[in-house]
Amino acid sequence: MQIKTLEEYKTAYQKSVDAPEDFWAEIASEFLWTKKWDKVLDWNFTGPKINWFINGKLNITENCIDRHLEKNGNNTAFIWEPNEPGDKNRTITYKELSEEVNRLANVLKSFNIKKGDRVCIYMPMIPEAVYAMLACARVGAIHSVVFGGFSAQSIQDRINDSQCKVVLTSDGAYRGNKQLPMKVTVDDAVKNCPSITNVLVYKRTGEKVNMQSGRDFDWETECKKQSVDCKAEIMDSEDPLFILYTSGSTGKPKGVVHSCGGFMVYTAYSFQNVFQYQPHELYWCTADVGWITGHSYITYGPLLSGATSIIFEGVPNYPDSGRFWQVVDKHNVNIFYTAPTAIRALEAAGLDFVKPYKLDSLRVLGSVGEPINEEAWQWYHKNIGKEKCPIVDTWWQTETGGILISPLANITALKPGFATLPLPGVQPILVDEKGKEILGNGVEGNLCIKFPWPSIIRTTYGDHERCRTTYFATYPNLYFTGDGCRRDEDGYYRITGRVDDVINVSGHRIGTAEVESAINEQVDVVESAVVGYPHDIKGQGLYAFCIVPKTTKTNEQIKKEINDCVNKIIGAIAKPDKIQIVSGLPKTRSGKIMRRILRKVAEGELTNLGDTSTLLDPSVVEEIIKGRV
Ligand code: PRX
Repeated sequence: MQIKTLEEYKTAYQKSVDAPEDFWAEIASEFLWTKKWDKVLDWNFTGPKINWFINGKLNITENCIDRHLEKNGNNTAFIWEPNEPGDKNRTITYKELSEEVNRLANVLKSFNIKKGDRVCIYMPMIPEAVYAMLACARVGAIHSVVFGGFSAQSIQDRINDSQCKVVLTSDGAYRGNKQLPMKVTVDDAVKNCPSITNVLVYKRTGEKVNMQSGRDFDWETECKKQSVDCKAEIMDSEDPLFILYTSGSTGKPKGVVHSCGGFMVYTAYSFQNVFQYQPHELYWCTADVGWITGHSYITYGPLLSGATSIIFEGVPNYPDSGRFWQVVDKHNVNIFYTAPTAIRALEAAGLDFVKPYKLDSLRVLGSVGEPINEEAWQWYHKNIGKEKCPIVDTWWQTETGGILISPLANITALKPGFATLPLPGVQPILVDEKGKEILGNGVEGNLCIKFPWPSIIRTTYGDHERCRTTYFATYPNLYFTGDGCRRDEDGYYRITGRVDDVINVSGHRIGTAEVESAINEQVDVVESAVVGYPHDIKGQGLYAFCIVPKTTKTNEQIKKEINDCVNKIIGAIAKPDKIQIVSGLPKTRSGKIMRRILRKVAEGELTNLGDTSTLLDPSVVEEIIKGRV
């Protein structure tokens, strides 16, 4: 399945367009299926209804684990690097992984978890987080991982939306110089989650936690009671594998659903081709398992490929900004995959944190999550890759399940800031506002995909119509990504950023509507509008305009309360970087907020605000400009 040359890429790409079913059948044949599919693909984007490997039966964990045991059981699956550099690493072989996952799968069964049940995972970056995902998949349960930085309210909303029965968590977590009270947060969340019957708690920090008798159980004690064998549940190719919540322009986060067969085939294929992983190499993706990057390229893609990966508990700047590079040298990492926001932060910290390290084991560098600006690209290329490592700028989304546009390492000619070319099986097109295809090169438009690939979103949990309207209704018969994109003279793709009301802060997707509704919970705020503005480190920052009528509180007090509200309702990642208290917002006569104007103010572009003649009260704009923070 691994492409080796540009010629092979071109041939594979052409075949994937001319005969997509044959193309994917050949790749899918490399996996272990309990029963082979009857038909490769059945699809329409109007429903949408997308089925891959129809009536194929499998269990993804047999492909992630069991398949490797006979020949490579003693190979290392994971090296765990803890938060404190001085603490002991853990090394987990495929055989050990198998035992740990099976024991945990049996614990889930003892909690009466069955195929199709939903399980919430709220964990630090420890190997047990990966075991948790795989144990769910082993018994056919659908995992819903919630990022460890989200608030109790966010966990609660996600649990209730998909009616999870069990939560897998830890007592606490270490993240840099912080200790997070995971179990306390879960306790707070599940108070209002009647569907939860059990909570399993891994001891990570050893802090004292409340254990509710009959509901809460200790992870290790329960696992010790169980056998290291657990028969894999036979799943249909289209059975859901997991739900992952993600923010959009409107309403609460949606539960993006991925299915077993297609997700398996595509994550393995994309992992092996983009990074050009070679046997015995060491791969490190610095993402958290709470995001799609962790799902596809820490857990599934690498394990399906029999790879050895690092699981890193810490953060880039603890104990200092040389931590990533220290880990690279310590373990001799060959492939390193991180986000532009981390690169920019480490660049800002200065080269003194890079110089002590050799970094000579590195072969491939990766970038994901947001557009990488040319300066950061060059810094990464020169100082980390020593001008010899290709940078794969991988564009994709929670909904796409895997990387769709990216160079293949050492195969595709690079261009800084460009995700370059689509992977085989991916057919991007650019359209104008009306949905008309923009042909040719040297053009810019909204990025859509016109043909399904195996790991495309299947539905949004519990609300298929929302899936249709969000992704498949803007332009008929196209999957709409929400991103703007340029195709240059060479046919290379450069993602320019979101064209909807989603803001990409440090590579995290934040919906403005969600933040506004959290801000509005502060008692003095009557209305708010949140927009993005360029931020040196985060890529984009959040700028909140909040209407506060008469109050006895100081602005500082109100701003603090607004931040507290957002922290409590969503989590620290959504706290506004700037808050401006205003007496009104620029609205049209029909009451629509003119975000275009707010964006310009937030960006500091004050001279050319465009047409303001349709505003109900143009004087509001003057006030906003004067009070800019
Ligand atoms: O705007 C694009 C940006 O991140 C969005 C997807 O966010 P999420 O679902 O959280 O997944 C992030 C990890 C895959 C996209 O719509 N994005 C992601 N990768 C890139 C990117 N923008 C530019 N270049 C990228 N390489």
